[in-house]
Amino acid sequence: MSAPMEGPDATPPGTVYLVGAGPGDPELLTVRAHRLLSDCDALVYDSLVPQELLDLVPPTCERRFVGKRRGHHSVPQPTINTVLVELARRHRRVVRLKGGDPFLFGRGGEEAAHLVSRGVAVEVVPGVTAGIAAPAYAGIPVTHRRAGSSVTFVTGHEEIDKGRPGVDWQGLARSSDGLVIYMGLHNLRRIRDELIDGGLPPSTPAAAIQQGTVQGQRLVLSALAEFAEKVEEAALSSPAIIVIGAVVAQRVEACAPSPAAVEMPIPL
Ligand SMILES: C[S@@+](CC[C@H](N)C(=O)[O-])C[C@H]1O[C@@H](n2cnc3c(N)ncnc32)[C@H](O)[C@@H]1O
Repeated sequence: MSAPMEGPDATPPGTVYLVGAGPGDPELLTVRAHRLLSDCDALVYDSLVPQELLDLVPPTCERRFVGKRRGHHSVPQPTINTVLVELARRHRRVVRLKGGDPFLFGRGGEEAAHLVSRGVAVEVVPGVTAGIAAPAYAGIPVTHRRAGSSVTFVTGHEEIDKGRPGVDWQGLARSSDGLVIYMGLHNLRRIRDELIDGGLPPSTPAAAIQQGTVQGQRLVLSALAEFAEKVEEAALSSPAIIVIGAVVAQRVEACAPSPAAVEMPIPL
């Protein structure tokens, strides 16, 4: 239930739109997101949001960057929540722009719940997630009738303080045809070992896509057994999406919108 506004004369707060910015290619922005950006009074945005989208907002729009700056920690979530409520008290249309989709590893659910608890109207605008778009821009379908009828979106970066069990990689090796891993670069060796211990063949094809959908996209392809080492050799860095499963071998290079710069063959 929403909390009441403070005082009988309080101005009704504006609406906060939790908007997905898409994976990086500005052309993958939704029409609704474009419309809201072009007409917002305040904008709160993260690091992975492309400059072209920031250029869409009106010159009068109040902007707040809440992402991670070089050498600094990211803005804590409670601070972002407070900023959103404060902006909604002063503006009619506040856009909270997030990379990819706001409800997929984007903490959009937490922000939505907080806003509602403070009596602020909130609306989510889904975006194209990196976990589908980055593989697509490398020509990799995340499901395929012959190679994968299930796919799991999973984080490779787990916070210790979550107070619940971590990802069951061995269980996923047995239960999901394909895995799309976000934020997995730093745990790649452990993930690989767990998946193989869980029964995934060492020859399973794997792909890592850095900077998917944008200029400078890079791709590493390898069998799972030596995947972590190949990714390290290529010095891939964040942001990157990892795809593991037979779907990787169904890659149709010709359909990829941008050419891959780094490529290593899959031993089939
Ligand atoms: C905090 S999560 C946000 C995911 C986002 N909400 C989405 O739906 O795409 C950030 C992670 O998404 C992945 N990511 C985001 N943009 C990417 C891109 N352009 N290319 C590859 N991976 C990307 C990376 O794994 C990155 O570490």
